Amino acid sequence: MTSLRKSLLVWLVPVFLTVAIVASVWTYYMFGSMVSWFMDSQMQVLADSHAVQTLGPPALRPLSDHNVGKGGLIVQIWDAQGRLLTTSYPSLVVPLQAADGFQEMKFGTRHWRIFSIHTPERTVQTVQCIEFREQVISKQAFQAGLPIALLIPISAWVLWFAACRAMGKLESLARATAAQDENTINELPTKGIPTEISPLVIAVNTLLTRLRDAFASQRRFVQDAAHELRTPITAMTLQLENLKACPMDAETSSQVLQFEAGLKRTKRLIEQLLRLARQEAPQKADAVSNIDLAEFLREQISDLMPCADHRDIDLGFTFDISATVRANPHELRSLLHNLLDNALRYTPEHGVIDVRLFADGGKVVVEIVDSGPGIPPDLLPRVFDRFFRIEGSDTEGSGLGLAIAKHAAERNRIDIKLDNRIERSGLVARVTFADGAGIKNVPKLSTAA
Ligand SMILES: Nc1ncnc2c1ncn2[C@@H]1O[C@H](COP(=O)(O)OP(=O)(O)OP(=O)(O)O)[C@@H](O)[C@H]1O
Ligand SMILES: [Mg+2]
Repeated sequence: MTSLRKSLLVWLVPVFLTVAIVASVWTYYMFGSMVSWFMDSQMQVLADSHAVQTLGPPALRPLSDHNVGKGGLIVQIWDAQGRLLTTSYPSLVVPLQAADGFQEMKFGTRHWRIFSIHTPERTVQTVQCIEFREQVISKQAFQAGLPIALLIPISAWVLWFAACRAMGKLESLARATAAQDENTINELPTKGIPTEISPLVIAVNTLLTRLRDAFASQRRFVQDAAHELRTPITAMTLQLENLKACPMDAETSSQVLQFEAGLKRTKRLIEQLLRLARQEAPQKADAVSNIDLAEFLREQISDLMPCADHRDIDLGFTFDISATVRANPHELRSLLHNLLDNALRYTPEHGVIDVRLFADGGKVVVEIVDSGPGIPPDLLPRVFDRFFRIEGSDTEGSGLGLAIAKHAAERNRIDIKLDNRIERSGLVARVTFADGAGIKNVPKLSTAA
C-alpha cells in the first residue's frame, strides 16, 4: 500500500528544493549584473568628476585597508607625462592603463576592476576590489534562496498535519463502517468530511440504507412466514390427535408416529426461526433492565424441572454469590434456555446437570455442566453457526439454538464458551457477564431449584 502522505512529501520536497536553487541562481546572475552595472556607473561618475577639473590635483581622502575591502573606490590621478600625481590608496600600485574604459587585473592577492579616462592634462583611474562585489552578490543570492529553503520543512509539516487531519476523518469513517453489522446499520457521519470524499460517503450511506431495508424485509419475511406456518401446523397437530384416536393397523400406526415426529421437528424449527427473527429486530434502549441472576436462573430451572424429571435427570443449581446483571430479560432467557435445553436434550437419561453461579476475577459466571457426550473438539467452533448440527445425533433439533444464544450474548455483552469436561464426558457451557453489579457472596449452601 502506498501512503498518500508520503507521496505528497516525495513530490513536494524536490519541487521546493528546485525552486530554492533556481531562485538563488537567478538572483545571483540578475543581482550580479545589476550590482556590476551600478558600481561601474559609480566608478565612471567618480572618474569623470576628477577628469573635468583643471586645477592642480585635489586632496583625496585616504582609504584604509578595511574601506578598500568593503568596496571603497580608489582614485588615482596621473599627469600628462604619466606620473602619478595623487592616489587615495598608496599601498596599491596599479599601472597606468593605455586605453579608456574598464579592465580587470590581479595585483597581490586580489582582483581589481579599473576604469580609466584620459584627458589632455591628466588621466584618472578609479579602482575597486572585485571580491567585494562577489561577496555582495553571493550574500543576496543566499538571502533570496533561504526563505524558500526554510519553507521546505515548514510546508512539509503543514502538509503532514493537514493530511493527518484528512486521514483522521477517513479513519473515523472506516471505524464507523467496520462497526456496522446486520442489526445496527447506521449512516456514516457526513459532518466535517472533506468535500472530495463526501460523494463517496453519500454513496455508501445510500447503500447502507438499502442494506438496512433489505435486512429488515428479510427479517419480516422470516417472521411472517414462521408466524403464518404456526396456524396450519397447529391444525395438523389437532388433526393428527384425532387420527390417532381412530383404530388403525400396525403399519399405519408406525407411519402416523413418523408423521408426528416430523410435525414436532417442523414445529420446533418454526419456533426457533421465529425467536431468531424477533431477536434480530433492533433492540430498544429501554429493553435492558437489572436482573437478579440467582432468582432468574431459579425460575428457568423450575420451568425445565418437569422435563428433567421425565428423563430422570438430576438437575441441580448451586450459587456462591447473588448478583445483579444488566441485560434484556427476553434475550437472557432465550440464551439460558437454549443452553439448558441442550444440556437436557443431549444428556442421556439418568444423567446429571449442574448449574453453578459464581464470581471469577470480579465477573459473574454461570456454568452449565452436563454429563452428556460433549462435542468433538474440532466441531466446537462451528456449533454456533446457524443450522449446524452434529451428524449422528439421535436428538431432534433445528441447529439454531446456539446461534440464537450467541446472538443474544453479543447484544448483551455476555461471553459464551463451550468446553468438554476433562474428568469425564460432558459439556461445560460457561456464560460470563461483562456487567455484574452488587456481587455478594452468600453462605455456602446448595439449592435445588
Ligand atoms: N450440551 C450438549 N451436549 C452435546 N452436544 C451438544 C450440546 N449442545 C449442543 N450440542 C451440539 O451442538 C449442535 C448445535 O446445537 P444447537 O442448540 O445450535 O442446535 P440444536 O440443539 O440441534 O437445535 P435447536 O435449534 O432445536 O436447539 C447440536 O446439534 C448438538 O449436536
Ligand atoms: Mg439446541
